[in-house]
Amino acid sequence: MIHKTLKPFPKDFLWGASTSAYQVEGANLEDGKGPSCQDVKKVPEGTSDLTVCADHYHHYKEDIALMAEMGFKSYRFSIAWTRILPQGTGEVNPKGIEFYNNLINECLKYNIEPIVTMFHFDMPAALDQRGSWSNRESIDWFVNFAKVMFENFGDRVKYWLTINEQNMLTLVGPVIGTLTIPEGCTNELKEIYQQNHHMLVAQAKAMALCHEMLPGAKIGPAPNISLVYPASCKPEDVLAAQNYNAVRNWLYLDMAVYGVYNNLVWAWLEEHDATPEFGEGDAEALKNGHPDFIGFNYYNTATCQWEDGTVECDSAADQQTARGETGMFKGFKNPYLPTTEFGWEIDPQGFRATIREMYSRYRLPLLVTENGLGAYDTLTEDGKVHDPYRIEYLRKHIEQIRLAISDRCEMLGYNPWSAIDLISTHEGMKKRYGFIYVDRDEFDLKTLKRYRKDSFYWYKKVIASNGEDL
Ligand code: BG6
Repeated sequence: MIHKTLKPFPKDFLWGASTSAYQVEGANLEDGKGPSCQDVKKVPEGTSDLTVCADHYHHYKEDIALMAEMGFKSYRFSIAWTRILPQGTGEVNPKGIEFYNNLINECLKYNIEPIVTMFHFDMPAALDQRGSWSNRESIDWFVNFAKVMFENFGDRVKYWLTINEQNMLTLVGPVIGTLTIPEGCTNELKEIYQQNHHMLVAQAKAMALCHEMLPGAKIGPAPNISLVYPASCKPEDVLAAQNYNAVRNWLYLDMAVYGVYNNLVWAWLEEHDATPEFGEGDAEALKNGHPDFIGFNYYNTATCQWEDGTVECDSAADQQTARGETGMFKGFKNPYLPTTEFGWEIDPQGFRATIREMYSRYRLPLLVTENGLGAYDTLTEDGKVHDPYRIEYLRKHIEQIRLAISDRCEMLGYNPWSAIDLISTHEGMKKRYGFIYVDRDEFDLKTLKRYRKDSFYWYKKVIASNGEDL
């Protein structure tokens, strides 16, 4: 649809950006914090570990001041489970509560709305040893953690996100350093979808608890949603795209919003004897959890084709690679899309298509919780970072949000990845996303000084004009 007149961004649109605790904070075992699965995992060769990251833990005041200078209306960050509960359950760490109180208060000082992710890939190592999400008790562990957060921060935090990219944990868990398969497991698919089921129930219970404890707050999921295109107009390819859409996207949102399993996914799991077991009360809990909005991360679309032969899983696949499932779909490289330096396709129009599809399926307000471009940035001798490629990427995506708003989709805000440079999930420090450059290399911590990139000044202008001046 071509619009003669574009609708403006809403007045209270949440312009901001995102980070996650284990990728940005550093201080990974400081002030009583326990280790998470990220701290004990084997770091990919040639990339730095997670002990210092951007050292946001010690620089948070300076970092929030820079975000305020850009005019942020929101800052999406995650709370490290192991800073609050070092063992995952049991004793609360007062220093951890103090840190997040300070962080939240610092945001509020500048009228920045804190948007809190409750779980971003960082299962406590102590709970990993107890089976992590494969243990049914994980539902209670997570709900208890949620309760501690609601009690301590619920007076000031109005926006909550449950589990970051649960769909990626399920689809490519090992790539992002989490989701483990117990030894001796005989049906891997069933095991993975059982863990996924526990996360779904935990999420539903946390949403219900949030509404009970904090009637003024809003809560939603934060999956990574990418509309899947068929590789051609061949009817088989259209069916394959529907299959991958179901497995990658709709399973998570059908469940969060309606409390039911997507029928295509359920049928596929049945075929493989892999349907998850429901514990007592699960069906009811799933029906009782209702999101107030849908948070979602978008980097690009996926494309796939029909395949009824065996599909080998690409071992190099990451969260943005369309994979394959025998008898369901097979990933296909879209010839119409350029890619980033790290091989991720770039598809701004797909952003609008994804928003349209999600809004028409669920009719809930949408909050963009991630979007962005990972690149090799260079700090010049005079302390500048020229990143026109990032500005171009973000500009094109913001244009598409405005078109989606004009399509009458309800949009709450835009929080790209990332507010500041941080450690990538599996590419270390070299793959940068931030508006703020952090002076460190993969292994040399240098000065950790902050520098404003060109995109910093550009985004400031975008926010000041409420998206008019791109
Ligand atoms: C998302 C994650 O998948 O993408 C973030 O929620 C991650 O944690 C971001 O950093 C970018 O991915 P990567 O692999 O380039 O760091």
